[in-house]
Amino acid sequence: MTDTAIVREVGLRDGLQLVKEMLATGTKLEWCRLQAATGFTEFEVTSFVPPSVIPQFADAADVLEGAQKIDGIRPSVLVPNLKGGQIALDRGAEKIAFVLSASEEHNLSNVRKSTDASLAEFSELVAARAERGLENQVELSCAIATSFGCSIQGEVPEARVYDIAEQLADLGADELNIADTVGYANPLQVRHIFTELEACVGDVPLAAHFHDTRAMGLANVVAAVEAGVRRFDASLGGLGGCPFAPGATGNIATEDCVYLLESIGLGTGIDVSALLEVREKLDDWLPGERVEGRLMNAKPAKTYRPAA
Ligand code: COA
Ligand code: ZN
Repeated sequence: MTDTAIVREVGLRDGLQLVKEMLATGTKLEWCRLQAATGFTEFEVTSFVPPSVIPQFADAADVLEGAQKIDGIRPSVLVPNLKGGQIALDRGAEKIAFVLSASEEHNLSNVRKSTDASLAEFSELVAARAERGLENQVELSCAIATSFGCSIQGEVPEARVYDIAEQLADLGADELNIADTVGYANPLQVRHIFTELEACVGDVPLAAHFHDTRAMGLANVVAAVEAGVRRFDASLGGLGGCPFAPGATGNIATEDCVYLLESIGLGTGIDVSALLEVREKLDDWLPGERVEGRLMNAKPAKTYRPAA
């Protein structure tokens, strides 16, 4: 296999959501800068949410502004509603990741409205971008959380996921990020759902967002690769989790994900050894925080050959 994949670092957003201690703005930007130097171009750097809901992101505007000054990267921001999207547009975000859930109950818990109401807000965000004449400058991605099951509602009908994806594609989403928010997905389900989605969203690119809650994360990455997916979210040291989904734990670890993709011939442009040096710094930045990931301890195999 000779091909490429994009790994988007979401540690500064998903990774920090459950971290109680505030990471200083300067440290967030140092993390971003150091990791950018290992070859990353895509980062989700923060979330435009009320500080009363997630205090960790009270510095969202400053983090975005600082990240915008780092050469060679395109920082994206998560927004949970139209208001957050408007703030992100006003702050010059180049990529905005709107989030809604396929699970009605998770959507209510997470953003306090129905999924249909969130879809309507996404549509208003597309219109707000157009009003500002930013169609060609700002990418609007939409994450469909709990696409593989929900820790509140349980089963999420796959037909609902396809229905939402089709609506989002029709509304003008530039990317759909299919998320296993609570680590319920298995590889067969992943291959099936991504294959079906490709048929119903035309040429809108699909990204995958996996949590490793039940040790299925990297197996799910391989299944998604087999279904044609080439965009993956991951979090350094496997930090992460949604504060509004019971039992949520960390994302797949970035370093393990990059190592996997490179090993199977998908070039990421990322230097794994340099990335492990940044990973080591996480222990200083977030002392006492539970950090996951296997490669950090094991180190790359002697036989490891990055993709060409
Ligand atoms: N950023 C900043 N302020 C915001 C905001 C945003 N994205 N959205 C709403 N607000 C403000 C409103 O202006 C209003 O302020 P006011 O009281 O001064 O008038 C206040 O917050 C309440 O607004 P409302 O629209 O009623 O929000 P809500 O109470 O229904 O909460 C969300 C909705 C989406 C803001 C809230 O559920 C939320 O932040 N969820 C975060 C979900 C998340 O990040 N999950 C993890 C990632 S998946
Ligand atoms: Zn997540």
